[in-house]
Amino acid sequence: MRDDKEFEYILNKAVQSHTLDEKEILYLLETKNNKQLFEQADKTRKKYVGDEVHLRALIEFSNYCRQNCVYCGLRRDNSQLTRYRIEPNDIIELAKKTKNYGYKTIVLQSGEDPYYTVEKITKIISEIKYLDIALTLSIGEKTFKEYKAYRDAGADRYLLRIETTDEFLYNKLDPAMSLKNRMQCIEDIKQLGYEVGSGIIAGLPGQTLKSIARDIAYLKSIPVDMAGIGPFIYHPNTPAENIKGNFFELSLKVMAVLRLLMPDINIPATTAMETLNPQGRLIALQSGANVVMPNATETIYRKYYEIYPGKICLGDSPAHCRFCIENKIQSINRYISKGKGFHIRQN
Ligand code: 5AD
Ligand code: SF4
Ligand code: FES
Repeated sequence: MRDDKEFEYILNKAVQSHTLDEKEILYLLETKNNKQLFEQADKTRKKYVGDEVHLRALIEFSNYCRQNCVYCGLRRDNSQLTRYRIEPNDIIELAKKTKNYGYKTIVLQSGEDPYYTVEKITKIISEIKYLDIALTLSIGEKTFKEYKAYRDAGADRYLLRIETTDEFLYNKLDPAMSLKNRMQCIEDIKQLGYEVGSGIIAGLPGQTLKSIARDIAYLKSIPVDMAGIGPFIYHPNTPAENIKGNFFELSLKVMAVLRLLMPDINIPATTAMETLNPQGRLIALQSGANVVMPNATETIYRKYYEIYPGKICLGDSPAHCRFCIENKIQSINRYISKGKGFHIRQN
């Protein structure tokens, strides 16, 4: 009874004031009242960002990566993976096709692949910007100078998940990387005037709810313009610990709490969520999310961009995914936005 009262109090506080301390965030993460949490996140989503869903077309242009994150299938030491890269001119052609499917944003994503020099990337950016489309980069950790060159060339947004703010865990999972540098990258991106997208993996081996509560507080402190939450999915060709468990529900909870605390930001219903639940993206869209990132990579490459196994849409074409997602979104009485879907700050 007392617990119910405390839950009501904290949930109410989040709904009304959009501020919670870390202890209160933890309380919401620990609650069993998921349904109420998701309902309130859905209401907040509707009130602040409405029923429109922004689509971001994802082009996975290279699966080479110089990093070695323990949990990721694209890690440098995964010698089982067939590597590919798409040439800059072909990326530009693909972007043109993608625009013709009616997308207003393109996300260019890759592992950290040094093949794409600043010259190559800036050329790609300026060609795509001719198409009058919003452009997001998701190509990892770069220097301030590089981020600046991309921004000057016209990139609008940058996506760099913090993954976890737990320093001990971070050092264990990204052996050669540092949390400090990653945070600096996010600050650089912010300072350069990009829309900042970040987020975490929920359910990482060794991660606690307490550390997730800190992650949420961190994302709010930046504050990010977009936050993507994906459940951890074990990849057998990695040294990650194979923990049993399905982190779909946990990732939904993290997402719902973020919606309550940052009511007007963009929050995607992630591909990893749908990998764990066939209705995952629709459930997410009804629990706080307002964005979907359909795959626009050509079918031949899809199976090689295997961050984790079981990824959805592997055998499908860009046209099919575009059509599929529109039907899904309409089936829950939501509609696809006609705009570029920039973050509009409302509080
Ligand atoms: N399970 C879930 N998400 C993962 N990512 C990397 N490996 C995994 C995994 N095993 C996520 C990271 C990265 C994004 C592209 O994919 O958060 O930022
Ligand atoms: Fe590379 Fe990103 Fe995978 Fe780390 S998570 S290995 S940086 S693609
Ligand atoms: Fe790719 Fe449904 S979004 S098949």
